[in-house]
Amino acid sequence: MILVKLGGSVITDKSRLRTFRKASCDRLSKELGQARAALAVVHGAGSFGHIEAKKHALHKGYKKESQIQAVASVQRDVRELNLKVLESLIDSGIRAVSVPPASAGTFSGGKLSSFSKTPFEVQLDLGLIPVSFGDVVPDRSMGFSICSGDLMMEALAKAFRPKLVVFCADVDGVFDRDPKRSARAELITEFDGTSLRNMRRTQARHADVTGSIYGKLERMLVIARHCEKCMIVNGNVPGRLRNAIAGRQVIATRVVPG
Ligand code: IPE
Repeated sequence: MILVKLGGSVITDKSRLRTFRKASCDRLSKELGQARAALAVVHGAGSFGHIEAKKHALHKGYKKESQIQAVASVQRDVRELNLKVLESLIDSGIRAVSVPPASAGTFSGGKLSSFSKTPFEVQLDLGLIPVSFGDVVPDRSMGFSICSGDLMMEALAKAFRPKLVVFCADVDGVFDRDPKRSARAELITEFDGTSLRNMRRTQARHADVTGSIYGKLERMLVIARHCEKCMIVNGNVPGRLRNAIAGRQVIATRVVPG
C-alpha cells in the first residue's frame, strides 16, 4: 500500500480563510490516479481549519462556552474541504471515500486512545480509496481536540505497514535552514534522529494548532519505522508525486529511522 498526505499548504492557501487551491489539488489527484498499488490518502486542513481553530484555541480543548460554536463551524469547514478533495479525486478516476478520524479512533488528551483499522480495511478490500483528514474530534479528557492529518498518517502506517509513505509539502523537503528566508538553505536528503537532534529548537517556535515542524518530523521518524520508505516531496512541482509513487528518483527528503 501507498499512503499519501496532501498537506494543507499545498491544497489550500494557508493565509486566506477557506481558500481551496483547486488546480493544485486536481493535478495531484491526476498524479495519484496513476498509482499502481493500493492507496490511502490523508489531507491537511490548511486554511479550512488552522485559522479558526487557532483563533478559538481549539487545540487546548474546552475552556469556555464560546468555543463550541467554533467546534461546529470548523468541523463543517474541514468537511467542506474534504468534499472538494473527494470531488477532485473522483474526477480523476480514483474511487475515493471519506473516513473521518473519529469514525476510526477515540481521543483523549489530544492523542489517540484507540484506533480501529476496520473502517479503512473494509473500504480497501472493496477497491475503494479511503480519504481521511485533519479534524476537530471529540476528546474524553479535553471535551474536544484537534486530530492532525499527521496523527492519522501515524495510525495508518502502524496499522497497514505501507510500502511507501509520501508527504506532499510546499517545499522540496527538510532544509538545514528556512528556505523561504535563506537562499543558502540546503536540502537534507536523508533525515534521521541525529538530524532532528541537530535541528535548531528555534524552529519549534513556529507552531500552529497541530504543533511545530520539530514535532511533525518526530512523528515522521516514528512513521519511518513502520514502512519501507518515507519521504517528503514538493507537491507544488508537477510530476514529483507521480514519480515518487512510481519509485523513480526525485528531489525529496527521505526520512529514515534511527
Ligand atoms: C489540521 O490538520 C486540522 C485542523 C486544524 C482542524 P493538519 O495539521 O494535518 O493540516 P495541515 O496539513 O497542517 O494544513
